[in-house]
Amino acid sequence: MQIINTKQELTSQMAACVRQGKTIGFVPTMGALHAGHASLVKRACEENDVCVVSVFVNPTQFNNKEDLLKYPRNIAKDAELLADLGVHFVFAPSPEEMYNPEEMEQTFVFDFAGLDQVMEGKMRPGHFNGVVQVVSRLFDLVQPSRAYFGEKDFQQLAIIHHMVERSYMAERYTNLQIIDCPIVREVSGLAMSSRNERLSEQEKQTAVAISKTLFASKEWAKSANVKEVQQQVINTINSVEGLEVEYYEIVDKNTLQPTDCWNNAVGCVTVYCGPVRLIDNIRY
Ligand code: PAF
Repeated sequence: MQIINTKQELTSQMAACVRQGKTIGFVPTMGALHAGHASLVKRACEENDVCVVSVFVNPTQFNNKEDLLKYPRNIAKDAELLADLGVHFVFAPSPEEMYNPEEMEQTFVFDFAGLDQVMEGKMRPGHFNGVVQVVSRLFDLVQPSRAYFGEKDFQQLAIIHHMVERSYMAERYTNLQIIDCPIVREVSGLAMSSRNERLSEQEKQTAVAISKTLFASKEWAKSANVKEVQQQVINTINSVEGLEVEYYEIVDKNTLQPTDCWNNAVGCVTVYCGPVRLIDNIRY
């Protein structure tokens, strides 16, 4: 496995792979890797000739400086895991390598066709601009055949599909397939997340109520309407000491707009567990 820190080295290695007719599987990450990432990487290794993983905590997608500073980082441990999984290239640039100073100030603006007006987009202004800014740049550098994303970040995945399939950028990505990968959970049901590293053992146990409530809500949905289930989920999670719901929206899986029917409905939740902001979702 080769660890690459510069764009120049990455593009020359990728050009060599393309020249040899190799398919490239790509998994973009912000590091602090867990079993959820490992499931994406395993798939990328199985389905492609070459597997590339980026490890880059992207400053332009953080609207909260504290969150950026506290985001867990452990490149040595990440590299060990990725080598064990059979990854060929890890791209781990510095922020200065990725962006010039103006780009760091989030000057990038992208049209999301309304997909960013709700949920994470509403709560974290500029977040998805930053995500699209970095992901489009990474795609341009890596030239992947397939790119793998986890369904835990449901809205992010919808926006990446939009960028690659329907936006003005789509013609750059005609040979790229976006692969949606299911949420990986702890045995307890807690959705795997790098942010879980910031939870104490006690908080981890408390946070189990999030997925437990989402699973229970599938049962409630059999005999209640969307508004009722939405309220019941919020009340149930908020009744647990240490948890506070920021939003729980039941949306159409394609438009991400709130829906009042169960067809194509996905419930997306954000919950504060102490200071740590956790997200999860469920399909009805
Ligand atoms: O999902 C993430 O970890 C990040 O948003 C991504 C896609 C790596 C872009 O920085």
